[in-house]
Parts: sequence; C-alpha cells; structure tokens
Amino acid sequence: MSKPIDGFSKLSKSKKIDWIVDTYFSNTESAKSVLKQYWNSNEKLQQLHDEFIENTITNYYLPLGVAPNFLINNKLYTIPMAIEESSVVAAASKAAKFWMDRGGFKTKVLSTTKIGQVHFNFLGDVKKLAHFFNHVKPKLILDCKDITQNMSKRGGGILDIELRDKTSEIEHYYQLHASFETLDAMGANFINSCLEQFAETFKTEAQKFDLFSEEEKQIDIIMSILSNYVPNCLVRAEVSCKVDALGDGDTMSGKDFAKKFVQAVNIAEVEPFRAVTHNKGIMNGIDAVILATGNDFRAVEAGVHAYAARNGKYSSLTHAKVEDDMFTFWIEIPLALGTVGGLTGLHPLVKLGLELLNEPSAKELMQIVAVAGLAQNFAALRSLTTTGIQQGHMKMHLMNILNQFEANASEKEALVKHFENHTVSHSAVSEALNQLRLNLEK
Ligand code: MEV
Repeated sequence: MSKPIDGFSKLSKSKKIDWIVDTYFSNTESAKSVLKQYWNSNEKLQQLHDEFIENTITNYYLPLGVAPNFLINNKLYTIPMAIEESSVVAAASKAAKFWMDRGGFKTKVLSTTKIGQVHFNFLGDVKKLAHFFNHVKPKLILDCKDITQNMSKRGGGILDIELRDKTSEIEHYYQLHASFETLDAMGANFINSCLEQFAETFKTEAQKFDLFSEEEKQIDIIMSILSNYVPNCLVRAEVSCKVDALGDGDTMSGKDFAKKFVQAVNIAEVEPFRAVTHNKGIMNGIDAVILATGNDFRAVEAGVHAYAARNGKYSSLTHAKVEDDMFTFWIEIPLALGTVGGLTGLHPLVKLGLELLNEPSAKELMQIVAVAGLAQNFAALRSLTTTGIQQGHMKMHLMNILNQFEANASEKEALVKHFENHTVSHSAVSEALNQLRLNLEK
C-alpha cells in the first residue's frame, strides 16, 4: 500500500518522478527511462508541454496522420487526424477518394449559437422575480462590456438572456439562460466570464431591488457555467450520387449496396445498442480531427451524444435514403469549435494542422469535422455490409501484432505480403512468424 503525499505539485519534475518510481515500480531505472525517452530534447518545447497541465512527468504521444483527397464544397482538403486506432485514417482516406470521384461532400453550417447558464435559488414571488429580471437585464449586459467589447467589435457577443423557471423540477430553482455568438473562438472562457459577471450583477442588484422582501433579496447563486450541449450550433454534411454509381462493378450492384446501407443506418436509428457503436465510429473521425486541431474532444463528445438522444431515445447521428434513384447520406451534428484561442495558437502541431487546413474559420472547421465523421461512418458501414469489418481492421492491426512480437523489418515485409491473402489473427501471425524464423534458421 502506498502512502499519501503532501505537496506533490510543488516538487520538481525529477523529484516527482523519483517519488512515483520509488513508490510504485520494482524496476525504478527502467520506469524512469520509459518516462524520459518521451521527453523532448528541445527544452522550450518541453517546457511548453510541461506547462499545459499540472504534474507533467512526460509526454504521451499519439500518431498524427493525414487523410488526403477530401473534396468539400468543391475545395480539396488534406485532413490532419490524431488517433491511435489503426484503421481510422486508412478508412477516412478511402471514403474521401470514393466520394471525390462522385462529387465530394456538401456541407452547411446551420447555426452557431452557444449556451451558458447561471443556476440560482430564489425564495419568493415569481412575478416579482420576473419583474426584477426585466429591470436588471440591460445592466447584466452592460456590466459585461469589458469582457464583450472585442467580441462585439467582430460581430459576436451576448445574444440574449432569459429567465427560466425550473421550480417544477427542483424547488426554488431558476436559471439565467443565456445565448452567445463566439465567432472563431470556442468561447468557453468568454462565456464563463460573462456568466460569472451576470451572477455578480444579479445578486448585487437584487439586494437593492425595493419590491423584494428581505428574503427575496438573498438570491442564492449555485453556479455559473457554459453548456456543452449546443443543439443550436449545428452543421450538416452530405454526400449523394446515383445509386448505380455506388456499385463496385464486381461483387455487388449499386442498388443492392444502397439497400443494405440504408437499412444499416435505419437499424442505428431505431436500435440504441447499434446506435452507440455506429456513433462511436463517427466519433473516430470527429475526435481525431478535434484533437489534431487543438479542440476539446470531451466537450464535443458530451454534446454530440446528448444530441443523439434529444428525442428521448439514443439514435444515429447519420441518416440515409434512396429517392428517385439517388442515394443520399448525411449527418447533422452540434459542434462548438474554435480556431483561435486555447491550444490553437500554442501547440506547434495544432498550428501546423490548422495551416494544413488553410487556416479555417470555426465555421469552416465545423464543416471539415462533420465530413470526417460522415466519411468514417460511410467507410465503416461499407465494410460492415460487404466484407465485414475484420478484414480491413485486422490488416491494419497486423503491424501492431508484428511489433508486439518484435518482428524486424524484413520479417514485417515478408509477413505483410503473406497476409495479403491470408486471414490475420493473433495466432496466425504468431504461427507465420515462428515458421519464418524456423525457415531462416535452417
Ligand atoms: C470501430 O472503432 C468502429 C466501428 O465499430 C463502427 C461501426 O460499427 O459502425 C467499426
């Protein structure tokens, strides 16, 4: 059993590592060297990473890949993706190429409003509260002037504030429900700063409001925080083509493929067990671009899944139909993204990723990210409804298995060739590698 430690965050990095390895590892030197091999020799860069969070002991690498050939609204993109899952970038690239030859992706930002709330308790007459709210609303906005002036100059800011009565759910509970336009910023700091100012003004002004009784003057602020549920910050991406153009000209006709594909989407629309996996595949594409562009994937995940359940039952984020011989496949998702602020101007790889995308606005990034999700879902459903997922998945996973067995370069080359027409499994790779090594010994 390890002992608790006081003042850990105050220790130097090397003292932190000493404590960790001495407390938890039997081979302290080996643990230290694993941690240290990920340190960057560029001290400034390492310091930048050290200072992103508290108690940094090393860096955690993820591969950064790119998926080229994404034709979006007639403009070609190469999309950066940070992800560890072997088949994701390959699948995205394949779907991009497929749709590039069929007119590409069409996208549209439907709305960009973000939400934040001040949650508070009020004991008293709701009519008087409504009266107070109308009286104080201009001041709520005015008192935020220092926070909002730059954003307002660029055309964003506070859009509206409503008073919401939630007392049917929790006794005495109300909200200031505010909407914001944060332009190219994800806006979390901006929104939270405004909300905290609203709370301050609301509480202070209540104490001066003559119509309130002494009890009513004591507004109890519970918390002020943005919402990561952004159903009015929505983007749509779509692909479509003639049903015949979907066929592979070999094993399956376009018509049969479209029929199976649409049913696969319909299943995810009605069956939550399938919808979760279906949407997970979409998030494979979305999260990878979100990470590569320095955005907050936890916020996006939480908001997207809430949206998937908005009708009371968890359902598919994508939809598909065949009408008049045209196949259409689309996604509509809430995405609160930023291309300024946060990590975007700080992390060298994020800056590079955004430059690769030609310095997109937040709206443009919403469209690129939605496309990455749609493409990923298309690739997954195409495999699932034709060859099955394992064929492509295991082919991509082959390199991981070979690395686990410490195969050298020539063994890898031989086995990649061998598995071009053999089924990949852990045991099959182990057997083939043993055989290869035995043959070499002979
Ligand atoms: C695997 O990461 C994602 C899939 O399971 C998605 C899906 O089933 O649609 C292949």
